[in-house]
Amino acid sequence: MDVLERIERTRNDARESLGNVRDDRALEEWRIEFLGRKSETLTLLRSLGELDPDLRRKAGQAANALKGELEAAYGEKQAQLAEAKIRDASTLGRIDVTLPPRPLPSGRRHPVSQTQRDIIEAFVAQGYSVIEGPEVELDYYNFEALRIPKDHPARELMDTFYVEGGDRGESKVLLRTHTSPNQIRFMEKNKPPIRIVCPGRTYRNEATDPTHEWMIQQIEVLAVDEGLTLAHLKGTLFEFAKRIFGQERKIRFRCDFFRFVEPGVDMAIDCFLCGGSGCRTCKKEGWIEILGAGMVHPEILKNMGYDPDVYTGFAAGLGVERIDMLRRGVDDIRHYYENDLRFLRQF
Ligand code: FA5
Repeated sequence: MDVLERIERTRNDARESLGNVRDDRALEEWRIEFLGRKSETLTLLRSLGELDPDLRRKAGQAANALKGELEAAYGEKQAQLAEAKIRDASTLGRIDVTLPPRPLPSGRRHPVSQTQRDIIEAFVAQGYSVIEGPEVELDYYNFEALRIPKDHPARELMDTFYVEGGDRGESKVLLRTHTSPNQIRFMEKNKPPIRIVCPGRTYRNEATDPTHEWMIQQIEVLAVDEGLTLAHLKGTLFEFAKRIFGQERKIRFRCDFFRFVEPGVDMAIDCFLCGGSGCRTCKKEGWIEILGAGMVHPEILKNMGYDPDVYTGFAAGLGVERIDMLRRGVDDIRHYYENDLRFLRQF
């Protein structure tokens, strides 16, 4: 076999062998075999000097061309293998189909919504229906019709967000400061017997602290019927408290004042943090107030067209966040609306 045939055969052998290379190790073996110091290619180049000048020129050109060609093929293969490695790492090559699936993150109700539902259920179980009313409210329903006239000091208890440029005739427009306007809205359109609850957001322009937020959920309760007394109000509220807090918690039920009820009361639960001895959360009181309530003022019943000598009613406004704080031991109301998943995922 002459030298030119040997060059051609080496080329064919090298090409065929490179086609079978699948990894770096095989490629290195191939490099040693076809481009290494003892390879046929380099042996050929080294032996050129022994040839006749004519053949040496031809064989020299062919052998150098072969070396260049094999070096280029080597580089190309190296790049191909590297690329395949990246592909494998990021896709199918690394998937272990026997591994158990990762759990899908599941959503859940906000703790305040959960408690809102439970409270509503406690009243529905006692025969109440659920209604809703507007969050953007007229001054008339939020204050006037509830016996809180303009410039009355009672308005200062509820720092109000007014809607700029929203006046409707005589009445200003505001974000409701409580759910009590729904008492009026419902009584205007319905006749006794009445048993309703009305949940919803309320807003107050006030500084926040561990038990005060500027936006809270309230639930309004209203019952109007013949012969309702304060004892019925107390019984209804104690039944709700028993369902939500269990039998062990202490309840404080005492007189309070609201312009739209007579008499007025409020209800508090013993502080879960200090057990009643006084701490930062309950502001050293030992109690956390959860609701205001009372017997619907006879003047309001009259304004609604009911005869106050026949009908009496009771109403209450419950603070849902405070109730949830007491149930779950949340020491600061501001946690609820910071949207920190570390807090929310606990419930
Ligand atoms: C009222 O809002 C009356 N409308 C309640 C009422 C209804 C009385 C019917 C009589 C008859 P008060 O401002 O006290 O009352 O709020 C009621 C409850 O809402 C409070 O006991 C408290 O639990 C909650 N609450 C009120 N303001 C805040 C606040 N800024 N942050 C957290 N909870 C609040």
